Amino acid sequence: MAAPIRVCFVCLGNICRSPTAEGVFLHLARARGLEGRFRVDSAGTSAHHAGEPADPRSAAAARARGVQLPSRSRPFTDADFARFDVILAMDHANLRALRRMRGAATFTGTLALLRDFDPASPPGAEVPDPYYGGPRGFDDVLDLCEAACAGLLQRLLPADPSAAG
Ligand code: 4NP
Repeated sequence: MAAPIRVCFVCLGNICRSPTAEGVFLHLARARGLEGRFRVDSAGTSAHHAGEPADPRSAAAARARGVQLPSRSRPFTDADFARFDVILAMDHANLRALRRMRGAATFTGTLALLRDFDPASPPGAEVPDPYYGGPRGFDDVLDLCEAACAGLLQRLLPADPSAAG
């Protein structure tokens, strides 16, 4: 059995978007019997909410789709570049922060925007920050994460017929 693919989703606070992406990806992988092929985590480029569970608005929107968000906020650190194969930012500001942190470190994995994996997304598309907006924003985040995570799963395990669809 191949080593698990280690995936980390990254946003600013690690309480809204990246816990949602983490939960959605796990949910999709589990539904296809592929959970054991991955180690999935999330982190924030800020430590502002460290230790907090997912925002209750994110958790409620996810729960309504049968998706659990069990993560606790933690800041992304330099050491995470050695811990993950695939590091996916929710927006350009977070991608820039991650590129700065990577600095001269040798990271041979994938560092990209999550929505790069949604074949229907235009290049450079972001998962918008829902924190200061209305409740619709949390459902939008779920929609975007579902589309991108389905594409991600398909790209990471292209040879596995159970990963299709
Ligand atoms: P996230 O959302 O980056 O998707 O977790 C945010 C959470 C908190 C804040 C901003 C965005 N904040 O400013 O506290």
